[in-house]
Amino acid sequence: MTTELATLGSGAMFDRIAARYDFMNRVLSLGLDQSWRRRTVKALMLGERPRVLDVATGTGDLAIAIANGCAGAEIVGLDLSEKMLAIGRDKLARAHLDQRVTMLAGDAQALPFKDCEFDAATIAFGIRNVPDRALGLRELARVVRPGGRIAVLELGEPRRGVLGAAARFHCRVLVPRIGALLGGRREYRYLQTSVAAFPPPDEFAEIMRGAGLDVVEVAPLTFGACTLFVATPKEEL
Ligand SMILES: C[S@@+](CC[C@H](N)C(=O)[O-])C[C@H]1O[C@@H](n2cnc3c(N)ncnc32)[C@H](O)[C@@H]1O
Repeated sequence: MTTELATLGSGAMFDRIAARYDFMNRVLSLGLDQSWRRRTVKALMLGERPRVLDVATGTGDLAIAIANGCAGAEIVGLDLSEKMLAIGRDKLARAHLDQRVTMLAGDAQALPFKDCEFDAATIAFGIRNVPDRALGLRELARVVRPGGRIAVLELGEPRRGVLGAAARFHCRVLVPRIGALLGGRREYRYLQTSVAAFPPPDEFAEIMRGAGLDVVEVAPLTFGACTLFVATPKEEL
């Protein structure tokens, strides 16, 4: 296996595409990604001064959406890719949000935080890339206080109907081709294959339950091109 192939989905792969990442997101999601993030922020039902963790924060778009959606929120963004984080830090400084959002290097599978430290946590388009997904989910359950919300946003392949077929064509054919032209051939082929291999929403919700989460909502967005999973940590009896 070449080093490049071995890094697919990892922080090193995202280091390679960091400079083009935001532009590619807007193009490949047809501009929908930011509305999915805003929907995710609403689902957190944040109070006045919440502490929120955004895991696999990348260039910080969801952390920024949380800061804009909740004026009193203090946010920590965590990611494996130093280059994605560096772009995120620049964006935060330009938006004057760097006092409220801290960007840290770290692994979703070993969060450097105490139990129940956060009022809410999110992971957007990230859990697909985490090698041990159940461990990543258990870590989210661990660091969020009882009753706090955890939102997982992830891409999927729409399964039914004419619009579903169009969306599948977009995902299977257009994404890898546009990715090859504008971004990175291997990286955007990986995006398509990893999305196709991701478990369907009911199966993933079951994995969340097995990882110590009570799932309160599973919402397909844009004909199932994306799914929002909302949960709270299971309370021990
Ligand atoms: C597709 S990007 C998503 C970025 C951001 N959440 C967004 O909404 O655009 C996936 C991110 O997951 C990060 N990542 C992959 N594996 C990780 C892990 N084990 N722990 C933390 N971050 C990870 C990558 O470095 C990358 O920045």
